[in-house]
Amino acid sequence: MAKDKTLYVCNECGGQTSKWQGQCPHCLAWNTLTESRAEAKTRRFQALAASGEVQRLSQVQARETPRIPTGLSEFDRVLGGGLVEGGVVLIGGDPGIGKSTLLLQALAEVAKRLKTLYVSGEESADQIAMRANRLGLAGCDIPILTEIRLESVLATLQGERPQVAVIDSIQTLYTEALQSAPGSVSQVRECAQELTRHAKQTGTTLVFIGHVTKEGSLAGPRVLEHIVDTVLYFEGDTGSSFRLVRAFKNRFGAVNELGVFAMTDKGLKGVSNPSALFLNRAEQEAPGSCVVVTQEGTRPLLVEIQALVDTAHTPTPRRLTVGLDPNRLAMLLAVLHRHGGIACFDQDVFVNAVGGVRILEPAADLAVLVAAVSSIRNSVLPHKLAVFGEVGLAGEIRPVQRGQERLKEAAKLGFNLILAPKANQPKQAIPGVKVRGVASLAEALDFLR
Ligand code: TYD
Ligand code: MG
Repeated sequence: MAKDKTLYVCNECGGQTSKWQGQCPHCLAWNTLTESRAEAKTRRFQALAASGEVQRLSQVQARETPRIPTGLSEFDRVLGGGLVEGGVVLIGGDPGIGKSTLLLQALAEVAKRLKTLYVSGEESADQIAMRANRLGLAGCDIPILTEIRLESVLATLQGERPQVAVIDSIQTLYTEALQSAPGSVSQVRECAQELTRHAKQTGTTLVFIGHVTKEGSLAGPRVLEHIVDTVLYFEGDTGSSFRLVRAFKNRFGAVNELGVFAMTDKGLKGVSNPSALFLNRAEQEAPGSCVVVTQEGTRPLLVEIQALVDTAHTPTPRRLTVGLDPNRLAMLLAVLHRHGGIACFDQDVFVNAVGGVRILEPAADLAVLVAAVSSIRNSVLPHKLAVFGEVGLAGEIRPVQRGQERLKEAAKLGFNLILAPKANQPKQAIPGVKVRGVASLAEALDFLR
């Protein structure tokens, strides 16, 4: 038998090295290598393997995959219309954010029509029953298995043949085939692979819950991302009751789709009009507040951006953002100085996207600058003004994708003045809305005067 050898496995990418080092040589992440044991896989029967059957793509019948709706429309939206037969979903997020709650609610709905199974390695059956009571699901009869041994979970799946099963959580499972500790990268990967194989062979829909943050503080999210069909992430402050579920990878739908939920005392409730939620503005508008029309997946979203520009009392002024990219802010302020003649080198600049939403697209650039200028000049922006547009390094305002949809969403929510890139100006006028198209930062600043 091969002797066990110590190996170092990266938590981020699953890459291996024989020596410990500070940086993973494969994905260049720092401090992610953890000690593990090399486990030799034997391939004694390789010579006996038969060759596989080759098919022609034109002869393969493409079926539209039937969807299994979960009864939670926001969850279905991020999934691309519902769960898919034989599809494997990974849903990651910080502990306590609501993953078990969401899946229990979804499973209760699915259980009305299909055979289900809830596998929990985290909580006992009575804890789950207590949660179900709290969620008002006392009448529903979901089969529950509290188990952490993969072999036993697989045997139960084979025996019970559920059509939809939830594994809460993938990190608690371990297989006896490996000697490494439960929760280690190799264990998590092996368990996920075995379960995925079962899902594909039997057409079972599986949902893995994973305690993984994007930074991947726990066993490798990227390792799992390759194995599963769909990766969803739960986001949101624990301080606020709003929870966002974002699709990160989806073989059956659009990525960057966003589902918005509110955590109530009766579980997670979908928020069908999130623009209204993020736009919870004060009656009296203040300088430094500007509404941006951003796009999340297929859905335009109106979010208030607040900027505060104040005299710096430190040699290096601060650039702080919440929900936006701080490097992008530094770049925008440089453009504002060079092409707009407004300097901030002796000012602290704080920018906040209200409501805990994260805006990653450059279409928010112009709104950030408009909010900053409003704060610098201490002047309130026109009532019912919405802004979007990307700002280039040459001071030009570049068009953004889905401009027409953004204009329509802003109009729908009662904004009657929209500052937008010239190239995004509507071909047909929108009744009751004035769209001011600008091609350069100078034009935009002129408009604000
Ligand atoms: P949970 O689903 O256990 O989180 P996770 O599985 O992601 O670790 O959710 C736990 C939190 O949700 C907990 O802090 C309490 C809160 N909660 C509610 O506010 N309302 C509810 O109806 C339920 C069931 C939980
Ligand atoms: Mg949980």
